[in-house]
Amino acid sequence: MSEKNNSNNSNDRSSFSGKLGFVLAAAGSAVGLGNLWRFPYCVAQYGGGMFLLLYVILAVTFGFSLMVAEIAIGRKTRLSAIVAFDKLKPEYSFIGVLASLVPIIITPYYAVIGGWVLKFLWSYITLPASAVAATNENGMTLFSELISSPTEPIVWFLFFLGITIFIIAIGVEKGIEKSSKVLMPILVILIAVVAIYSCTLPNAINGIKYYLIPRSKDLSVKTVLSAMTQLFYSLSLAMGIMITYGSYMKKNINIETSVWQIEIFDTAIAFWAGLAIIPAVFACGNPTNDLKAGPTLMFIILPKLFATMKAGRIVAIVFFFLVFFAALTSSISLYETCVSIIQDKFKQKRTPSIVFTFFICIIIGFLSSLGYGPLSMITFLGMQFLDLFDFLSNSVLMPIVAFFTCIFVGYVIKPKAIIDEVESSGHEFTLKKLFTVVIKYVAPILIIIILIASLLQAFGKITM
Ligand code: TRP
Repeated sequence: MSEKNNSNNSNDRSSFSGKLGFVLAAAGSAVGLGNLWRFPYCVAQYGGGMFLLLYVILAVTFGFSLMVAEIAIGRKTRLSAIVAFDKLKPEYSFIGVLASLVPIIITPYYAVIGGWVLKFLWSYITLPASAVAATNENGMTLFSELISSPTEPIVWFLFFLGITIFIIAIGVEKGIEKSSKVLMPILVILIAVVAIYSCTLPNAINGIKYYLIPRSKDLSVKTVLSAMTQLFYSLSLAMGIMITYGSYMKKNINIETSVWQIEIFDTAIAFWAGLAIIPAVFACGNPTNDLKAGPTLMFIILPKLFATMKAGRIVAIVFFFLVFFAALTSSISLYETCVSIIQDKFKQKRTPSIVFTFFICIIIGFLSSLGYGPLSMITFLGMQFLDLFDFLSNSVLMPIVAFFTCIFVGYVIKPKAIIDEVESSGHEFTLKKLFTVVIKYVAPILIIIILIASLLQAFGKITM
């Protein structure tokens, strides 16, 4: 992304080479820990099949409409989010500012999880699969020792962050993105293989049922909220990213079909990741506890799964390497986003912006790293630091940004502005009716209900 972020001038803006170039770049940003780490634990926590069903319904309505809107805003203005709203209507520039806060919160804690992935990669390189899954005499696993240590999570976090910054500083993102075009498809195949293996284990059938069959008792405001925020997170929506991507998209490319391709690719990967992990919870774990494990789920279950496999250690090394790679490409793109926000907003040069982003990462990253261990006694609204940052960015800021984006498109610039932009490529916008209804009515109303209910719940005013 380097050359793109260096220029904010609409005239010398470079473009993605073609439709495939755009879809691959946007999908590369979308696919990451959100699909592999966050999606499975959200499905597990919020009722399996019902979450999956809601996720898919929201993806084809909300996700679709919001992504079309963001890409079209970007292509129309040729600017990044923080200035795009300002250019269209200065009174609404606050949407760009709020959207920009999201990656600034996500980038540091993303690197913490990236650090956990590195720790596992290293463990499988140095230890047999059984040892990575083993519990010691104190009842601790390698993972529980990691997150309760006062130093280890910080070391791995700094290592992951260091790799990200190093790549950005020496400017080889392009090379990394190129390799990701080879490595991502391998990752997809490997996840599918692991998922199929996981489904053949004894008792896995209960997990498959839990994952695929919606139960009406799981339908709640909380499930809808978590499905919606997971959708935004996974598709990198409601944080200005797709506006930036759209600003590099050529005029002759069909936005509508590009959006479908990105959505299908992203959702398919998340689906396979869920199918690898949820049945394994029933086959090798303890469903009563593990389904509620939250952010730690993947790291609890996968070692147990790999320990049952014949070539578990090799599969685990390749698997964690590819997860690391997917996380790294997203982390580079997140970091770059923060850097360009600081450059655009505060008119700073690139190097001071990289350094400033680093300091923010250190503060939020240290707190997140220690939140499950030495700082676990500090909680806000019942959440440790990592969950708190995730909650603030995903469950508070992103719905607010999404709400105002809908209002902005629906009532300020009007859906027609977006429809015209989509159709300026010479393709008809087939689903423009759906788009208009979702952006003007369905999405804002639903988001506001969900947001209020979830805030009331977080502050203990109601129980759901
Ligand atoms: N969507 C990414 C994932 O699924 C995470 C992400 C959120 C992201 N915002 C982003 C990636 C911005 C790149 C840029 O992991």
